[in-house]
Amino acid sequence: MIIEKLALLGGKPVRKEPLPSYNTIGDVEKKAVMEVLDSGELSSFVAGPIDAFWGAGRVKEFENTFKNYFGMKHAVAVNSATSGLHCAVSAFGVAPGDEVITSPYTMSASATCILMCGGVPIFADIDPDTFCITPKSVEANITENTKGIVAVNIFGIPADLEGLKKVADKHGLFLIEDNAQAPDANYKGQKTGTIGDAAVFSFNRHKTMQCGEGGIIICNSDKIALKCAMMRNHGEVAVAGMGIDDIVNTVGVNYRMGEIEAAIAKVQFEKLQELNTPRIEMANYLTEQLKNIDGITPPHVPKDRSHVYYFYVMKYNEKVVGIPRELFAQAVQAEGFTMRAGYVKLVYNEPLYQKKICFGDKGFPFTANSRNDKIIYHKGLCPVAERLQEKEILVTNIIYPPLGISDMADFITAIKKVITNKDTLLNFQGKKVA
Ligand SMILES: Cc1ncc(COP(=O)(O)O)c(C=O)c1O
Repeated sequence: MIIEKLALLGGKPVRKEPLPSYNTIGDVEKKAVMEVLDSGELSSFVAGPIDAFWGAGRVKEFENTFKNYFGMKHAVAVNSATSGLHCAVSAFGVAPGDEVITSPYTMSASATCILMCGGVPIFADIDPDTFCITPKSVEANITENTKGIVAVNIFGIPADLEGLKKVADKHGLFLIEDNAQAPDANYKGQKTGTIGDAAVFSFNRHKTMQCGEGGIIICNSDKIALKCAMMRNHGEVAVAGMGIDDIVNTVGVNYRMGEIEAAIAKVQFEKLQELNTPRIEMANYLTEQLKNIDGITPPHVPKDRSHVYYFYVMKYNEKVVGIPRELFAQAVQAEGFTMRAGYVKLVYNEPLYQKKICFGDKGFPFTANSRNDKIIYHKGLCPVAERLQEKEILVTNIIYPPLGISDMADFITAIKKVITNKDTLLNFQGKKVA
């Protein structure tokens, strides 16, 4: 066997050219944007008690297309999923000191949406295979202050949404699905985003379907949709004129989606399945290949759900492979592919939670909670999430077009090359796994 020198040690990388960027913007999107520009109507909103309060034009068209596809009564388009999560949590009436349970293994907005309402995020531990919060861990964290759950369908795979809904219903809690990373995934034949009481999607530049920046909330409740629309568009100046009495949490901001974004989002949404398919095919290929490599476990997809692979997340056994995880990731990176040891820092490890400093310097909203002293974001809070992040997870995003199966084959070659060169790599770094 010829053992080629690792790129990390000065050899030639498996992949010679840089990875292409993810760009699915085509002629149809360009045409849709030009139509908006030609119309001169770049936004369809007015803040006040008139029809334009709800938006019109492309925003309405996009909302209608979206809600019809998901079979939901309402869709409220906003300028990001962060805004959408804020609207949704606020719509459920979360008040200072209320607790809302979410995942520690997610992008920060899944938790900051709770803080933005004066609520206190409580972190439940995750399933070691799907990386989503478990019904059992959620239930163990319920107190007299708990108002709801923000479950994240992370990396493209649905959480145990039925189990979470059962816990929510049993305790009278709301369930919001943060579906930013899993558009069009399935859970027991239902689409993610349709199982919780409301769901939020992201269309930021990195997402499978994108419009630069954008998001949407879907739900079946008239009241929740109205509250979200109030928050989106300076609700406080519209309530009186619209005869709305329930003014809890209607202090609005400007989270309006523009017409250009809505035009792009609609076109991208119409080809969502087309955008998901190559990801799934590339991921399935990787999974088949990785089954033959000891120490790297491909993503586990339970039989009752589908995965849409926003990221491809593997589990790494350092002892079996014999190379420290960080060094392994670095060596694969040097071969020309994205590979990260771990995802993002666990949310509760950020200084905001460690120091409990959020709005002002007096500890609000944590001080608004009767259990303030008992809420400590300490090490060991979510042991499974900590273990996965610190020791086991490897993340790559390379399952995106225009990359294809031959690029995936090169990625597998890179992994095999690194493993084959284990001894040289360890000697060079002066590191051995105990
Ligand atoms: C799980 C999750 N939730 C929320 C967000 C926030 O999305 P946006 O960038 O549209 O605000 C993201 C974005 O990365 C995300 O991945």
